[in-house]
Amino acid sequence: MLKKITTAASVIALCALTACGSGSGGAGNSTGSSGDTITMGFAQVGAESGWRTANTKSIQDEAKAAGIDLKFSDAQQKQENQIKAIRNYIQQKVDVIAFSPVVETGWDTVLLEAKRANIPVILTDRAIDSDDTSLYKTFLGSDFVEEGRKAGDWMVANATGPTNVVELQGTTGAAPAIDRKKGFEEKIASKPDIKIVASQTGDFTRSGGKQVMEAFLKSQPKIDVVYAHNDDMGLGAIEAIKAAGKVPGKDIKIITVDAVKDGMTALANGEINFIVECNPLLGKQLMELTKKVVKGEQVPPRVVTEEGTFTQEQAKAALPQRQY
Ligand code: AHR
Repeated sequence: MLKKITTAASVIALCALTACGSGSGGAGNSTGSSGDTITMGFAQVGAESGWRTANTKSIQDEAKAAGIDLKFSDAQQKQENQIKAIRNYIQQKVDVIAFSPVVETGWDTVLLEAKRANIPVILTDRAIDSDDTSLYKTFLGSDFVEEGRKAGDWMVANATGPTNVVELQGTTGAAPAIDRKKGFEEKIASKPDIKIVASQTGDFTRSGGKQVMEAFLKSQPKIDVVYAHNDDMGLGAIEAIKAAGKVPGKDIKIITVDAVKDGMTALANGEINFIVECNPLLGKQLMELTKKVVKGEQVPPRVVTEEGTFTQEQAKAALPQRQY
């Protein structure tokens, strides 16, 4: 295991000064100095959605391709499990810890432990809410507020009169739930006719989305639009809408976020009306950042993923090439 960050950094600095060649670190050596393999401890959120499944696969595949030894744990959407996993990685003296925080707050203590153990931390997908930015090297992931804004823009452009929206929120306290709500509300604020009449968490799962939508259909006399913070909850809502004898995409319009295959299929079939893309394929960039961080090289504090949006027509065209 590589626990020689300082040594590695000085060798690299020396190499830069003396222009030493690729032979110095041994053939196929990812760190370029010691011949050791980088070990990464990755604490994943869970397996709550199609997006998460694609994200996990991307991380596992790209770690393998980069020759990084990946220790992977699934927190089953519980912060305490993620904290335990991080402490475990600290004990194992991994070279780098990467994780996608279940919720935004409550990380300072464990991340301070990692810092004291001299183990760099990379945030992927979701951010933490902490004043201490020295607790992590970089944050790679989407701009969730912007995703909410894109959903809000579509809503504003497509509302034809008084519009009652029900919102299926992601996991309470999670960055994408907080930010997607914020971005959407920011945009619809310009149209007092568009109202969020009910908003509740479906925990980013299909079953959660279905259950909450069933309750909304009983409690709300008029629902025009569902804004779901991810595809899976939107797909659950579709089941509930059909069971209530209504037509998803027509009687009740649906906006979601992610653009995973199942969501895109429902969009192409007319059951969803608009999807804001959230890219789960973070593995390659994460491994590139990891190599730099372990070598002690400078990395940008924030790396934002590029993503677009899909209408029904665009989904039909994109589906055959969709990887996930
Ligand atoms: O953090 C990314 C979000 O988490 C995805 O939008 C959602 O599907 C997942 O569960």
